[in-house]
Amino acid sequence: MAVSIVVGTHWGDEGKGKIVDYLGENAQVVARAQGGNNAGHTVIVEGEKYVFHLLPSGVLHPGKVGILGDGMVVDPSSLLGEIDFLRQKGKDVSERLFLSSKAHLVLPYHRILDGIYENIRGGRKLGTTGKGIGPAYEDKVSRWGIRVGDLEDEKLFAQKLRVTLDYKNLLLERAFNQPPLPYDKILEDYLGYASLLRPYIADTSKMIYQFYREGKNILIEGAQGTMLDLDHGTYPFVTSSYPVVAGSLLGVGLGLGSISNLEVLGVCKAYTTRVGEGPFPTELQEEMGDYLRDKGGEYGATTGRPRRCGWLDGVILRYAARINGITSLALTKLDVLGGIDSLKVCRAYLVEGEEVDDFPVSSHLWDKCEPVYEEMEGWEEDISSVSSYYDLPSSAQRFVEFIEDFMQIPIAIVSVGKERRNTLVRKEIF
Ligand code: IMP
Repeated sequence: MAVSIVVGTHWGDEGKGKIVDYLGENAQVVARAQGGNNAGHTVIVEGEKYVFHLLPSGVLHPGKVGILGDGMVVDPSSLLGEIDFLRQKGKDVSERLFLSSKAHLVLPYHRILDGIYENIRGGRKLGTTGKGIGPAYEDKVSRWGIRVGDLEDEKLFAQKLRVTLDYKNLLLERAFNQPPLPYDKILEDYLGYASLLRPYIADTSKMIYQFYREGKNILIEGAQGTMLDLDHGTYPFVTSSYPVVAGSLLGVGLGLGSISNLEVLGVCKAYTTRVGEGPFPTELQEEMGDYLRDKGGEYGATTGRPRRCGWLDGVILRYAARINGITSLALTKLDVLGGIDSLKVCRAYLVEGEEVDDFPVSSHLWDKCEPVYEEMEGWEEDISSVSSYYDLPSSAQRFVEFIEDFMQIPIAIVSVGKERRNTLVRKEIF
């Protein structure tokens, strides 16, 4: 009986989907804790590609219980679409999926306001996914939110929608000069979703606690990454939830003191990417950035946007290890670095002439961080179909061991290639 939390060490897109899919095999319960359909977790099994936005990727394994936790914001039509997609692929999750009654609903005005807020920012855009995530969390915090559990009582839902929509329409019309949204249409749509979602709604926090007490392995699938965390990321260029480990426990409603066996697996890509705006000290602007983007297929799984690419930022990795209490690492997409003569890993920054080895807390310093690199010899071979760590070229093994040494944290998994079978395990997690 154990709880494993998978957390992204940088700005998301670290390849968590594939790692979670691998770990899902030995878990009985797989859960998402925060975020919404801004996430895009890709898993490829036997040539078939699955992109998960709301469901935990581990549900691909037959019989695993899937949980959408309390800390999530859920767009019902997106969730129903995913459930349907899996059903068409012969993977019915309907008997084993549970949706927290405390999770918040994403409503049409959230998506509209997401776009309006971005436009107002002009040159200081955040580059959001446009899914309404920020406005949905904004409503949660300011207590205008409508929760999944409210769908269980039609009258109550209708009342809550009436009050909230009156306020949102006031905002849309008076502040932003936009047409009001139709109450009747939204009510009809959401009552339709309610009838389909009702069987899934549950007290998932209680369920997870009971599963843990029964000795089951629980896998919590973090979405986004440490540097997109509302408190600990590169604010304001962050998402509106808590992708760090503390947020995962909060988001599934599990108390740290109840867990005696916790593993925190940090998922780190062999290079670094970010999508959206904001600081990125190791970003590569020219040829090498394009090489990584093309070879790594670095285009957003949710929005299709090209991701910004750069060398692995070890300073951020160390920061993520501290904030999350990472106990082991998974290093992903190592194959993408093949064919590059000389590889770099950032081990410190020069900030105003001084070498620092921690991520500065003050945002005015972020654009002044000049990476200090460790250079290493690369490898020529295509390693994307390797299935044992010891079959990797020696320089690829040296790259892995350098990071392990630098971090003083074991690298439990090295991932090369897209398929489930190209997951090289150095230490068992469950
Ligand atoms: P939002 O979460 O849509 O509000 O977007 C805020 C920031 O988080 C933007 O920079 C997005 O590109 C980024 N973001 C949100 N979700 C993900 C993700 O799953 N992967 C990578 N970046 C993300």
